[in-house]
Amino acid sequence: MVELDTRYLGLDLSSPLVASASPLTGSLDGLRRLEAAGAGAVVLPSLFEEQLTLEADQVGRLLDAGADSLSKALTLDGYNAGPHGYLALIEKARATLRIPVIASLNGVTPGAWVEHATLLEEVGADALELNIYYVSSSPRVRGSEVERRYLELVRSVRQRVGIPLAVKLSPYFSSVANLSRQLVQAGADGLVLFNRFYQPDLDLESMEVTPRLVLSTSEELRLPLRWIAILHREIPVSLAASTGVHTAADAIKVLMAGADVVMMTSALLRNGPEHLRAVETGLRDWLEEHGMGTVGHLRGMRSQRSVRDPAAWERANYITMLAGYPDQVHTEAR
Ligand SMILES: Cc1cc2nc3c(=O)[nH]c(=O)nc-3n(C[C@H](O)[C@H](O)[C@H](O)COP(=O)(O)O)c2cc1C
Repeated sequence: MVELDTRYLGLDLSSPLVASASPLTGSLDGLRRLEAAGAGAVVLPSLFEEQLTLEADQVGRLLDAGADSLSKALTLDGYNAGPHGYLALIEKARATLRIPVIASLNGVTPGAWVEHATLLEEVGADALELNIYYVSSSPRVRGSEVERRYLELVRSVRQRVGIPLAVKLSPYFSSVANLSRQLVQAGADGLVLFNRFYQPDLDLESMEVTPRLVLSTSEELRLPLRWIAILHREIPVSLAASTGVHTAADAIKVLMAGADVVMMTSALLRNGPEHLRAVETGLRDWLEEHGMGTVGHLRGMRSQRSVRDPAAWERANYITMLAGYPDQVHTEAR
């Protein structure tokens, strides 16, 4: 019998397969189904800085002003139950589920809203995931300033909670490796690689911007795959792979690269929570076929720890790939 026991953020998980933040994890019913399908842990949908800031700043004032942001924030309450409903969901989930329940905050700036992290801990969240979703659009703000804000926010949350803290990052930094190291020094126990930005499109008829939710595919796995392979054991931190995990093969790849856990959203939205069981079965079968009794045997087998100079290795692979053109091009036509 293959053992899937895993440690993530210092927590003991029965499986490395985790349901990441999405509407599926936003109700007790969804959470129960995910646990029954074999999830090792669940991450609740995020509470947004805007929702918490509005509470602190008196909603009434904004109602009078008819602020657009208010209606947006109220719409969000339909997404994640709002600040009060969220605390109740954690309490209920904690009382009902045996697997760890990870709460999630989504914000950008340190401020009073961060106090809410303490409440999440008080009602029983086993860990906290901080999703720093920020698209810096000012040509005047340097990359170093953006990084400074991230670190300040992480320090600010770290000071308020004793539970493990994971940071969900975007891949768009000039040095993901250096920022990761600094985030760990600022108090992160885990990194979730990566957050997926929702990129708006343009409608050619209405000529309007159209927000479009496009679920991921396995093609997107290679970004987290690369960075997990680079960071595994390079810095002392738990690593979660997020974006593009759809099949058992995807999960095996990121575990082989060094992920502690494998997170899934799009695959579960597309196929239902029960898809987790199929991925688990595929993972168990593969481990058995390859004579591995635990998932620990697989973890990090193909990280870049074995490569003396990963940057040179990356460049060499790039050049080899170009030199092999067109034999290595995979298109529908070929
Ligand atoms: C409908 C939807 C809602 C999501 N809500 C959140 C959220 O509240 N907080 C968060 O950190 N990520 C959220 N995500 C991002 C997912 O947790 C995940 O990181 C992303 O979809 C990439 O993983 P995937 O390829 O498995 O979908 C959401 C994704 C989708 C599709």
